[in-house]
Amino acid sequence: MTVAVSAWRQVRGRVDQQADFGAGHRWLELRVTAELEPPDPGQFIQLLIPSHASGAFLPRPMSVASVRPLRDGLMLGFLYVPIGVGTHALAALPAGAEVEALGPLGRGFPLDRPGTPVLVAGGRGVAPLLFAAESLARLGRRFELLFGARDRAHLVGLDEARRRVAGRGRLHLSTDDGSAGIKGTVVEALDRLSPRPDHPMVIHACGPHAMLAAVARWAAERRVTAWVAMESVMACGTGVCRGCPLARSARGRAAFGSQPPSLLGNRDYAMCCTEGPVFDSRDLDWERIE
Ligand SMILES: Cc1cc2nc3c(=O)[nH]c(=O)nc-3n(C[C@H](O)[C@H](O)[C@H](O)COP(=O)(O)OP(=O)(O)OC[C@H]3O[C@@H](n4cnc5c(N)ncnc54)[C@H](O)[C@@H]3O)c2cc1C
Ligand code: FES
Repeated sequence: MTVAVSAWRQVRGRVDQQADFGAGHRWLELRVTAELEPPDPGQFIQLLIPSHASGAFLPRPMSVASVRPLRDGLMLGFLYVPIGVGTHALAALPAGAEVEALGPLGRGFPLDRPGTPVLVAGGRGVAPLLFAAESLARLGRRFELLFGARDRAHLVGLDEARRRVAGRGRLHLSTDDGSAGIKGTVVEALDRLSPRPDHPMVIHACGPHAMLAAVARWAAERRVTAWVAMESVMACGTGVCRGCPLARSARGRAAFGSQPPSLLGNRDYAMCCTEGPVFDSRDLDWERIE
């Protein structure tokens, strides 16, 4: 297995603006210096909030939701939910506040694979897929975006999704209560797009692990490739602390082979931060993933 390891850097970031985005979510625009290489969709940044402002001594991983080039750096967009000490501290930062940004980290979505890209987003998992949609649209590729949540109010980023799909793809909504799109899950929305031999599809998914497990099952039954963006509680984000293991399947163990343990993990466990966060769904043992 070849794993592209990005040349990450730790650079200074400055909050340009952030705002409520609905249903308890926030949108953050962070200006970073030019030493940071432009991230790919699915890659993440470790945000280190000054500990005097947060009490959080470790950085917090965030998927990149948008990238805009600036004359002297990049403007990175993040869609996040404040849930604990670090993300609440992040939400409290005013425009102009500084954070350290480490990245780009991990392996992103392989959007160049042949076949129609089918982006499958659950809840705040839409963040890296907004970026993927933007990249595909820029490349002139047609794609499908399936976006599901519990109800209409939790389809956070829906206007962004509509903008990024415009003219290049189709947006399919699903909600548990039927308040927008079909009543059901994104997997039921996938059923309506069943693959045909003359139209192969490649899934790129992000959302809760239970949703990703269901997408993995759906794809395996139909011999469709599914790439899934996983999460794990992380400390270093660079393969050093060994804190983000995900159990490999037999296929994943065979692909890893007999290499000695490395920043990438060992034969039994992949490191989410260096081999992921995006994995081929067949390489993970879904019975042992929470
Ligand atoms: C690769 C990656 C990309 C991510 N992208 C996003 C994103 O785009 N938007 C977003 O809102 N969040 C994202 N997250 C999750 C985000 O990093 C966590 O919510 C954040 O680290 C929590 O920090 P905290 O200090 O606020 O919470 P803490 O006080 O550290 O924890 C609060 C609670 O959340 C749990 N928790 C912490 N991290 C995670 C996690 N990764 N998965 C599940 N439960 C967790 C803790 O166990 C605890 O119960 C991502 C995580 C990873 C690994
Ligand atoms: S977060 Fe440290 S090894 Fe993955």
